[in-house]
Amino acid sequence: MKESLLQYLACPSCGAELSLNNTEHDGREIVSGELRCGGCRSAFQIRSGVPRFADFKHDEAQRATAENFGAEWLIFDQVQEHHEEQFLDWIAPVTRDFVRDKVVLEGGCGKGRHTRLIGLWGARDVIGIDLSVAVEAAYRNTKDLPNVHIIQADIYRLPLKRRFDYAFSVGVLHHLPDPRGGFDSLVKHVKPGGSVSAWIYGRENNGWIVHIINPLREHFTSKLPPRLLYFISYIPAVILYVVLKLVYAPLAQTGLKRYLFYADYLSYISQFPFVEIHHIVHDHLTAPVAFYIRREEFARWFDVNEIERAEIHWHNSNSWRGLARLSASSRGAETRYAKRSSELAQQ
Ligand SMILES: C[S@@+](CC[C@H](N)C(=O)[O-])C[C@H]1O[C@@H](n2cnc3c(N)ncnc32)[C@H](O)[C@@H]1O
Ligand SMILES: [Zn+2]
Repeated sequence: MKESLLQYLACPSCGAELSLNNTEHDGREIVSGELRCGGCRSAFQIRSGVPRFADFKHDEAQRATAENFGAEWLIFDQVQEHHEEQFLDWIAPVTRDFVRDKVVLEGGCGKGRHTRLIGLWGARDVIGIDLSVAVEAAYRNTKDLPNVHIIQADIYRLPLKRRFDYAFSVGVLHHLPDPRGGFDSLVKHVKPGGSVSAWIYGRENNGWIVHIINPLREHFTSKLPPRLLYFISYIPAVILYVVLKLVYAPLAQTGLKRYLFYADYLSYISQFPFVEIHHIVHDHLTAPVAFYIRREEFARWFDVNEIERAEIHWHNSNSWRGLARLSASSRGAETRYAKRSSELAQQ
């Protein structure tokens, strides 16, 4: 942890300031120590360079989600070149320039591949939070950048002030027990006039996943030990990879693409290396919780007073991405509310 993170932190229980105690340093990094609340006196550990606020004591589903994703990101922990274009595609119309000099929050950062990019694109500071031990990989992948910070915390109970210009979440909210609650929590940490974006699985066009893959995932594969699932998922990943390279990649730019199954998404991933395909297959089999969300439901998340404008886009014919701009004042939010609702209805 870098000391500059302290300015953004607040106690997740009472909201008071936190102070540092008993710290051990390695250069500019605080590798261990304690954060103590000046209000309720709660204490939170800093271990292996990461402040730890996660608490799984009361929720079994959260614990299972954190355990499976933690294992996944420690196995598939590399940051690769193609992640940049893929990330831009998930957050569009947000661009590299948009984040320059902004204070940014990432809800569910996994191995930190996107947190790192936001740091490299010139954000003033970016904070990646994740519930799982994936934060160990995220910390390793980002600690060389002075403007990047990683925290282990629950998106519903963020140990953060309302200080962010932009908050985003990619592929996380649909794995929460209450996806909309996770989105609301991001909105609550963005300053008036700031922006929030999210990418989530769509329900439309995903009937085959809901009816065939989901029962397999819920009752069997998400319960397997992570190492075993790693090897089992290798087999469908090899088959998919061969089909992608022999069929989808050559036909992607031709008129024959429209005859292919799940053409937009599979053509898109046909350019990826094997390790990414293996990761995608593994990712679809490991999550204990996954919701597939319809557009109308997603649009309702944006129907809150703080949000002045929203745009929602259909992505790769299987998912939704949305960008919301918060109004600069709460008064502005009230007067613009009706206009925004009608904009959303027209899309
Ligand atoms: C599919 S991964 C996506 C990670 C990252 N956004 C990416 O695309 O590389 C979902 C992540 O959400 C995290 N997650 C799940 N529930 C969470 C919660 N309640 N609070 C914070 N993170 C959570 C998981 O630990 C996992 O790393
Ligand atoms: Zn407190």
